[in-house]
Amino acid sequence: MYPTGPAPGLAQNSPASKSWDRMGCREEVHLHYGLSLRGSLGIGSRIPTYIKTSLGRWQILVSNTTLWDLEPHTKAKHDLLVRYLNAWFPVLSRYRGRIVFLDGFAGPGVYNTGEPGSPRLALETLLNHSHLMNMSHCEFLFIFNEHHPKRFASLESVVADVENDLQLPNNIKVVTSQNNFSILAEDLLGSLRGKNLAPTFAFLDPFGYKDVPMALIRDLLAFDKCELFIYFDFNSVLRFSTAGNVDEHFEQLFGTDEFKHAPPSGDPRRGEFLRELYERQLTDFCGFPYVQSFQMVNRRGKTGNYLFFCTRSVKGLSVMKEAMWKVDPSGGYKFSDLLHGQTVLFEPEVDTSPLQHELASVFRGQCLSIEDIEEYVVVYTPYCKSHVKRKTLAEMQRRNQISSPNQRTRNTYPPGTLVQFN
Ligand SMILES: C[S@@+](CC[C@H](N)C(=O)[O-])C[C@H]1O[C@@H](n2cnc3c(N)ncnc32)[C@H](O)[C@@H]1O
Repeated sequence: MYPTGPAPGLAQNSPASKSWDRMGCREEVHLHYGLSLRGSLGIGSRIPTYIKTSLGRWQILVSNTTLWDLEPHTKAKHDLLVRYLNAWFPVLSRYRGRIVFLDGFAGPGVYNTGEPGSPRLALETLLNHSHLMNMSHCEFLFIFNEHHPKRFASLESVVADVENDLQLPNNIKVVTSQNNFSILAEDLLGSLRGKNLAPTFAFLDPFGYKDVPMALIRDLLAFDKCELFIYFDFNSVLRFSTAGNVDEHFEQLFGTDEFKHAPPSGDPRRGEFLRELYERQLTDFCGFPYVQSFQMVNRRGKTGNYLFFCTRSVKGLSVMKEAMWKVDPSGGYKFSDLLHGQTVLFEPEVDTSPLQHELASVFRGQCLSIEDIEEYVVVYTPYCKSHVKRKTLAEMQRRNQISSPNQRTRNTYPPGTLVQFN
């Protein structure tokens, strides 16, 4: 039985995979997870959040509402998720026997006016993928966890609809779970018994700051092929970090009590201190060397939350940065509900002059491969890999700031091209 045995299909190449294969069908696995439910989550104790939706209605967000309106910033979050998964599925499935998408706060799977939620988007991204046939050697496990009973019921029916509409191939499994995320994560960890989690993309998208303990995230995603895309409730942290009334929750959220040393309310350095502390904890405490944040600005022009993407792979970082530039073509890593819907006549042309300047001064006199330059840009600058060749190096070559000893055609940089910075 699950609480004492290994989690189905999670450990890489472990006996668990066999037990998963034997079980085979979703209903059994779901029952399995249902039985592992321990205790219940007291979301009733939360202070309700009233929001004015884009359709002009007031809504209590954290109550018993089963569905709610899709806000523009949520749509932006979904765009990031889908763009990333579209690239992540084929990359990881090339090398791995099994990969996991864990949606720890999956929601009801659908929004008020029928737009798909994150579970449906993730599943459909794979099922409609142009390379789906080439990924048939890899097993994909989707775990959708939602604690709230009515939202969970909605999630179940959304998943059933997808399964009916789009016939799941045998290598794609879906597990639904109605658990408090922390309990689910502890159960998963316990069942691994020291083995690594299979390569996992964990999407942790709670409403607030509770139930996303940093230490648990660190332990669960310790394997180097695991990645995290997590919501950070900046607005609450900004308001309450030095209030003293929710310290217990914030200590779990941050994995430290350093938030208590934030500059006082009203001090312009307070927000950056807290954002930077959370980012540092993801890097140092959780062991993710590459962390990229994306800011969500609300209708009042204030930062509501940040999304943090965390990975140990330069390729992963590169793909997510490309997605973030698509959602915010200004390169500010920011989306604003306030500006959403404004007509933009021209997409801003990427200004690479700061990058040209930086490369010229950092690498003056050195000869580097194109791959090393791309990696430098992805890891150390706000720019993306796609900005490097035509928009940056070709410009620099035209001005004779660079040359190449092995280039066949001027202003082109195929793999292996060496670039000499003059
Ligand atoms: C922001 S919504 C998720 C939206 C969804 N990820 C999407 O993009 O469509 C957060 C969800 O987490 C659920 N939730 C809140 N606390 C939870 C917990 N501790 N464990 C699991 N689910 C929880 C809420 O009921 C809510 O449906």
